[in-house]
Amino acid sequence: MKQIQCRIAGLLMALVAAGMLAACDGQEPEAQKEKILPPETGQDEAVKIGFSMDTLKEERWLKDRDLFRQAAEKLDAEVEIAAANGDDALQIAQAEAMIQGGIDVLVIVPHNAEATAAIVHKAHEAGIKVIAYDRLVKNADVDLYVSFDNEQVGELQARAILDAVPKGNYAYIGGAPTDNNVHLIKKGVLNVLQPAIDRGDIQIVYDEWTDDWAPENAQHNMAEALRANGNQIDAVIAANDATAGGAIKALAAQGMNGEIPVAGQDAELAAAQRIVAGTQTMTVYKPIQNLTAQVAELAVQLAKGEEVMTSVSVNNGKTEVPSILLAPTAVNAENLENTVIADGFHSKEEVYQELKK
Ligand code: BGC
Repeated sequence: MKQIQCRIAGLLMALVAAGMLAACDGQEPEAQKEKILPPETGQDEAVKIGFSMDTLKEERWLKDRDLFRQAAEKLDAEVEIAAANGDDALQIAQAEAMIQGGIDVLVIVPHNAEATAAIVHKAHEAGIKVIAYDRLVKNADVDLYVSFDNEQVGELQARAILDAVPKGNYAYIGGAPTDNNVHLIKKGVLNVLQPAIDRGDIQIVYDEWTDDWAPENAQHNMAEALRANGNQIDAVIAANDATAGGAIKALAAQGMNGEIPVAGQDAELAAAQRIVAGTQTMTVYKPIQNLTAQVAELAVQLAKGEEVMTSVSVNNGKTEVPSILLAPTAVNAENLENTVIADGFHSKEEVYQELKK
């Protein structure tokens, strides 16, 4: 990641900003001029934000949808939301329909980091700026990327598991390879594990992606990991709570649930309950309310052609994308109450209800 100060176009500063954006990615100002012209938003009209989502399958995305709508409405902005059920062609078609329907700014959670570049081009042709939400769009002139620090997510997972199991056989259950986040998460995991691997203290005896982040695929992968290693696995790092849930089902099938540490991510309710029950060791909490509040505000600013400042940039293969990366928090049985519950992310009753049964 490169530290930069990147400026994004202002309504009255379109040409100046053209030069500044160009300075961010090394292109000539002339080449950028078309793309950064701000949309024609009337002063009094409500800003209309298009929110193009990959999926609503996991609990977190329902929160993202609801909290984003609330955050935007607080700013008197309208939001049009579409979810594509993990279908690239559908996500592109939905985003195109929003662009044609007259949104002022597009916020996108890409299902496929590469395929969604087409949406960015289309939006720019219509003079609409694009924010990559939570996941980066690769190889396109994305205007802004707002997410959590995904490399840090992996580091938090690995540190927690390495503390619990300093020596032994690890299984890594990755996320969907089409999602840029999974590569960052894995990089973070290896940042922490590599010295222990090099010392010969730990071995990654199984390492596989999980197509479409599907829990059933993760369960299948974990079953395969156990079979291939005669159940000699001492720790599991799964890329999120959904895949951790799948992996734990496979452990349960061998009578091993609760016997070995498992890491996940998202602080899903089911994961918080598993942490309390002792079948999952940790999760990574990413306060979605902070992400939605930030993005809603930035989307309105971009739609109005206002200037947005960021202090970091992330390279997406085409350009240095001005970025904001929020901090994730490691959560285990000890700090569940002070973090996830204290923030009202889940209620204490919900988290502990399984114990009462
Ligand atoms: C998100 C995770 C989520 C996963 C699966 C990732 O890009 O950062 O929070 O669990 O996608 O939907």
